[in-house]
Amino acid sequence: MSKKPWIAPSMSPHQLGTLNKFGLRPPRGEYQDQLEGHNLEELVAEFGSPLFVTSEKRLRENARRLRRAFQALYSDVVHGWSYKTNYTSAICNILHQEGCWAEVVSRFEYEKARRLGIPGERILFNGPNKSAEILRRAIGEGAHLHVDHLDELSTIEAIARDQGRVVPVTLRLNLNTGYSEPWSRFGFHLESGEAHEAARRIELNPQLCLTGLHSHIGTFILEPRAYAEQMRLMCEFAAWLEQDGEMRIKSLDIGGGLPSRNALQGVYLPPAQAVPQPEEFARAVVDALHQGMEFRVRRNQPLPRLIFESGRATVDDAQHLITSVVGTKRLPDGRRAAVLDAGVNTLFTAFWYNHQVKLTRPPVGPPRETVLYGPLCMNIDVVRSSLQIAPLRQGDRLLISPVGAYNNTQWLQFIEYRPAIVLLQEDSCVSMIRRAENLEVMCAQDELPEHLRSCVPVTR
Ligand SMILES: Cc1ncc(COP(=O)(O)O)c(C=O)c1O
Repeated sequence: MSKKPWIAPSMSPHQLGTLNKFGLRPPRGEYQDQLEGHNLEELVAEFGSPLFVTSEKRLRENARRLRRAFQALYSDVVHGWSYKTNYTSAICNILHQEGCWAEVVSRFEYEKARRLGIPGERILFNGPNKSAEILRRAIGEGAHLHVDHLDELSTIEAIARDQGRVVPVTLRLNLNTGYSEPWSRFGFHLESGEAHEAARRIELNPQLCLTGLHSHIGTFILEPRAYAEQMRLMCEFAAWLEQDGEMRIKSLDIGGGLPSRNALQGVYLPPAQAVPQPEEFARAVVDALHQGMEFRVRRNQPLPRLIFESGRATVDDAQHLITSVVGTKRLPDGRRAAVLDAGVNTLFTAFWYNHQVKLTRPPVGPPRETVLYGPLCMNIDVVRSSLQIAPLRQGDRLLISPVGAYNNTQWLQFIEYRPAIVLLQEDSCVSMIRRAENLEVMCAQDELPEHLRSCVPVTR
């Protein structure tokens, strides 16, 4: 018979907010030791800890559901997969297999999409920093350029002149829907007339052709009416552009921002965090599009393509993180704390989410307020400042979810090696989709000038 672990006796005061009928405490006995039939301990034994675990099934289902939500209401729809959310190659290819285009925001992301085999015509090129070199390549390959500012427009004009070709461009707009903080640093301001001036400049240049409008109204948008208003404003602008019949906008791109089912921390939390279904967003967008495009219908002209660039709603809940407790502590103020092998270096979204955290073995003892720290020798490394969880012991594993969005891209190569990512395949196999870093990887970019090849003190 195995010996029961000793748990220190403790008394905790009855605290407002921890013990109440709405159950801020996790239900007693809650734990999870497997994912899609795979034992978590066995995954760690094979691939190490910490470990990102990705579900192929969930990822494909998410992509299909999002697309279906829009396609049920509108026939010409494109889902641009936002690379910055998670550009692990296998994850991108799953989404490309599901028909997603690539939405990229830098030279690196553009080159990555091309290396994966995505043709230029299926790349939406956003972002404020596109060099002349990458623009030249993207133009040559037929990528969709989303112009961010006037200097970029000048560069595109120069390339079009040099190459003697007509370059189609999409204008990125920033606008105020009244429902979310406008992202006014990107693109051309609609309300001030800046966007109108940029459009006129494009129209007057015979080597440019304005074919699309884009805007991105923010991230984790919980209000479908925000998208309806965005679409209304974009259609109004399209109608203004097309009034003399010369121009035809072929695509309206509403950017990303659909929320995932993660829990935003209090400071970012709107008063009530109810996450609408994708179908509710699609309905709001498409209704507004049909209304805003009535002028086209009256003229018997075709409707534009609808593009959305969802990132976090596509991938967030398709990934989990397994992390291990490396030690426990009692803080001077009496709170319990645990040090994990994954911190904000690995789980960057800990800065703004209260992720779900579960033990992977049956809990022993009542939940206690616990602080979760990461492994970094830095005070900022707090994975969770306050969590009600049963007493933790060294060697315990925790399952943190959902973590698929913005961690495998924003993670920091800082102090620790970055861990492996595995894929739970639909056929029940498990495959490594990104190896853990090691010393070779960490030193690969370093160069040592001749006189610094040795670390032996120099005797002069
Ligand atoms: C232009 C653009 N498109 C799409 C996205 C993806 O956003 P989300 O992950 O919120 O869907 C972003 C994120 O910032 C973005 O800037």
